[in-house]
Amino acid sequence: MKRHIFPLAAAALMALVSCDPGVPQLGKSSVDDVVAAMTLEEKVQLLIGTGMAGASGDSAVVGETRKLVPGAAGTTYPIPRLGIPAIVLADGPAGLRIQPRREGDSINTYYCTAFPVGTLLASTWNTDLVESVGQSIGNEVLEYGVDVLLGPALNIHRNPLCGRNFEYYSEDPLLSGKMAAAMIKGVQSNDVGTSAKHFVANNQETNRMANDVIASQRTLREIYYKGFEIAVREAQPWTVMTSYNKINGTYTSEDRALLTDILRGEWGFEGTVMTDWFGGTNPPAQVHAGNDLLMPGIPRQYDAIMAAAKDSTLVMADIDTNVRRILELILRTPRFKGYAFSNKPDLKAHAAVTRESATEGMVLLKNDNAALPLAAGVKSVAAFGITSYEFISGGTGSGDVNEAYTVSLKEGLANAGYSFCAPLAEVYETHIAAENERNAPDPKNPYAMFMPRKRAAEIVPTPAQLKESVDGSDIALVTIGRNSGEFADRQLTDDYEMSAIEKRLIKAVCDAYHAAGKRVVVVLNIGGVIETASWKDMPDAILLAWQPGQEGGNSVADVLKGAVNPSGRLPMTFPLAYMDIASSANFPYDYVAGAPVFFPTDSVKKESVRNVDYTRYEEGIYVGYRYFDTRGKDVSYPFGYGLSYTTFEYGDPQLTPADGAFTVKLAVKNTGSLPGKEVVQLYVSAPGGQLDKPAKELRAFAKTPLLQSGESQTVELRFSLDDLASYDENASTWMVENGEYVVRLGPSSRNILKTVNFPVKSKPLS
Ligand code: BGC
Repeated sequence: MKRHIFPLAAAALMALVSCDPGVPQLGKSSVDDVVAAMTLEEKVQLLIGTGMAGASGDSAVVGETRKLVPGAAGTTYPIPRLGIPAIVLADGPAGLRIQPRREGDSINTYYCTAFPVGTLLASTWNTDLVESVGQSIGNEVLEYGVDVLLGPALNIHRNPLCGRNFEYYSEDPLLSGKMAAAMIKGVQSNDVGTSAKHFVANNQETNRMANDVIASQRTLREIYYKGFEIAVREAQPWTVMTSYNKINGTYTSEDRALLTDILRGEWGFEGTVMTDWFGGTNPPAQVHAGNDLLMPGIPRQYDAIMAAAKDSTLVMADIDTNVRRILELILRTPRFKGYAFSNKPDLKAHAAVTRESATEGMVLLKNDNAALPLAAGVKSVAAFGITSYEFISGGTGSGDVNEAYTVSLKEGLANAGYSFCAPLAEVYETHIAAENERNAPDPKNPYAMFMPRKRAAEIVPTPAQLKESVDGSDIALVTIGRNSGEFADRQLTDDYEMSAIEKRLIKAVCDAYHAAGKRVVVVLNIGGVIETASWKDMPDAILLAWQPGQEGGNSVADVLKGAVNPSGRLPMTFPLAYMDIASSANFPYDYVAGAPVFFPTDSVKKESVRNVDYTRYEEGIYVGYRYFDTRGKDVSYPFGYGLSYTTFEYGDPQLTPADGAFTVKLAVKNTGSLPGKEVVQLYVSAPGGQLDKPAKELRAFAKTPLLQSGESQTVELRFSLDDLASYDENASTWMVENGEYVVRLGPSSRNILKTVNFPVKSKPLS
């Protein structure tokens, strides 16, 4: 192993050399001069990161750069003689992920704020709010000495079993792209970078490093690329991270057409592309493709690029192009500019940001007889369900955050002034303590920190305990929790579907409380879609709280109490049954074993599983509501759905076309008695023509400010002619069909309140 022996002594020696006025220095000399002064060895070093602690023995390299910010995911390679520092990259996306405590430092802590997961942020449908969350995250990135946040993550929710959906925004590319653009703008307003990931079509964890996505160009362009295209065009992330998977036989990190022709050529991306950690198999092909930086960097990548450079299978121009882009990235960073970071971001202020933003993304799924907000007479609450006590702030894996605390639902309600049914709380707390001891992760397992912690098994209180609770409380809350994350997809049984014990719990609590004329509210503390059709009739209200970050309990209490009127709307469809989802037929799942397939074996492949080495996106563009609404299939909760404590009325929309764009103005009035915000969704139905089209597609959305009772506000929604285009594979171009289009406005994809027709006469777009 020739490379990566770059101990600090050598670095110090080189720093001395840099005093030589003849040696170009980054920032002082032109980038071209710096590149010209680099040896081939230095260029190749720069193309790959400095390794990762704990990864296979041969990869931990420049140990010193790892100490820059302990717990960061990686660094670039420093070349002191040319004034090139290492820069630090750290996860993302629900907050900064670094180690909260440092060796040899018993005084300071380095906790970060756990903000709501991406799915909750998308449920706000509020780009300003997401931008402000990004500003706070970016401030922690800056103040902890990190240069690039490895987020946002904006893969499409193709199927609910994807274990990382909580990190991602939506089943819809417009909503995903707008959310990502807002997050990028917010984070980058601190002059630190982002990495829009995972580019692209990384929609499952099963066999994630080698899975081959088989999808049509139209499907890729319209559904899977689109969000990235919007994010790049609107917000220019400093970096883009390629995904692990292949598409139609080629790893995304090795795909020149994708990275150079489409991402840069067509969309105008000006930044640096990096691999996902250890992604791809052919380093020279990655360099040629325009995947500038290989992370976290392993020695064999260095050897492969060196060999290819020497035998000219890789041309120097490709190496230089990527080196230049990495240098340009370094030039922008706080570390290069010598920013004196404090290690003391204002965590208190950020806690307020996460508390408030979480409330705005909570979705009220059901609210019979105005069960919520809790009536003034409700003083005492009985909290059922393990997660009432062990609230889940976010998912696991690299998308997890090392926060200082998580406010449980019990704590949040206590903070809001409610009293508790103490005997019930004791039953749960005793049970949880015993189970946690039993499930403690094996300290010898290096992967334990990445895997979901085994949570205490759910229980159903005995009839006597239930009676005591009914007598001692005004209302019951049942919290249902789910967690998932990197490396594994979710299970159908006991995860997507409720477990038998959870169903028994909901039924027992509903029967007991309803018999006493008292109400039951189910709180869903989950990261992705679950089955709801079989049990949703039982409780009076259902609040989808998602995984709302470290202030979760307070945020839920704010909504239950009515301090905040929920204005979240679903960024995906909740189907009636899992197999109703178009992609379920082609999601790698072993229906015999009832589990995702991790490592494909011949027997599994033959018997019960299709699509392990590959996944056929046979549903094409018909993902989520595009499928359900086109087929007219019933769903449990449609895309865009969510109730409010108040009601809204829509005026008559006015559509004005001008210069290839359209503006729709719509007055929205709060007709109820409480202040609230409304999300207006604009769908467009296209006329029949050459290409088949979904029944309707989201083309714009707007959220009102807080409207007082009786108050009206006119919202403006804009879309362009280009937004109506479909990708014509035969002509390899976008095209807009001529004919009569319909704008459909409403508070969900299944509740259209107003329509406007408009004609389009157009020509193919380039
Ligand atoms: C994940 C990325 C993450 C990277 C660095 C990978 O396993 O897929 O999302 O940014 O690790 O931690």
